[in-house]
Amino acid sequence: MDGNGRWAAARGWPRLAGHRAGAEAVRRAVENAPRLGAGTLTLYAFSGDNWKRPPAEVQGLFRLFEEHLRAETRKCAEKGIRINIIGRRDRLPRRLVTMIESTEAATAGGRNLLLRIAIDYSARDSIVRAAQRLPRTKASSRELFSRLLAEVDHCAAAAPEVDLLIRTSGEQRLSDFLLWECAYAELYFTPKLWPDFTGKDLEAAVEAFRQRERRFGALRTSAAVVAAAV
Ligand code: FPP
Repeated sequence: MDGNGRWAAARGWPRLAGHRAGAEAVRRAVENAPRLGAGTLTLYAFSGDNWKRPPAEVQGLFRLFEEHLRAETRKCAEKGIRINIIGRRDRLPRRLVTMIESTEAATAGGRNLLLRIAIDYSARDSIVRAAQRLPRTKASSRELFSRLLAEVDHCAAAAPEVDLLIRTSGEQRLSDFLLWECAYAELYFTPKLWPDFTGKDLEAAVEAFRQRERRFGALRTSAAVVAAAV
């Protein structure tokens, strides 16, 4: 969800005002995702490397997450939205962890959308921690590794494949996000700053995704038919 800081700076406002506006864009994305056919929406809210930011910004973000979890839990439960916070929890403030646990419990029955929010998340860190849990005796498999990855990050389900990755604000990087799960993700870049990202923008991204031909390393369907015929 890139671009909050630049959005605020353009208005001469503090960075946290940008994050607050970003939280409104989160609401729009969550409202629009189910009608666009998304079963899971994962938002990258705080990376393992975001600890390098000034303490006041970090504390402000954690307060914002706590406030929004508190304010949205009931509505999400009513709308069938299951909230799952993925990432490490051992470095987060105790109050935030308590809020995360109660939000997850209150929305656990949601079936319309799995809303995953990545907080203190680092894909490389997760991969290392999951690898440490690989049993030495059992033959490893991708399925087993996906389950271990889910386990270390408190994921509600075994690491789901990412279909579409949207990056805002003109950045064109993965930034340590869901590296295992993005093996065949379609990438979509937009210059829009995250606070300006609307339901229409999400729709445009999904439409672009629908035009992509996904081959997963195989041949195009028509080429496969020709290959089978010769
Ligand atoms: C990246 O933009 C954004 C973040 C590190 C924070 C994202 C947090 C929110 C959108 C707040 C709301 C979230 C929830 C789940 C309620 P940046 O700060 O790097 O922006 P810049 O690149 O313009 O400086």
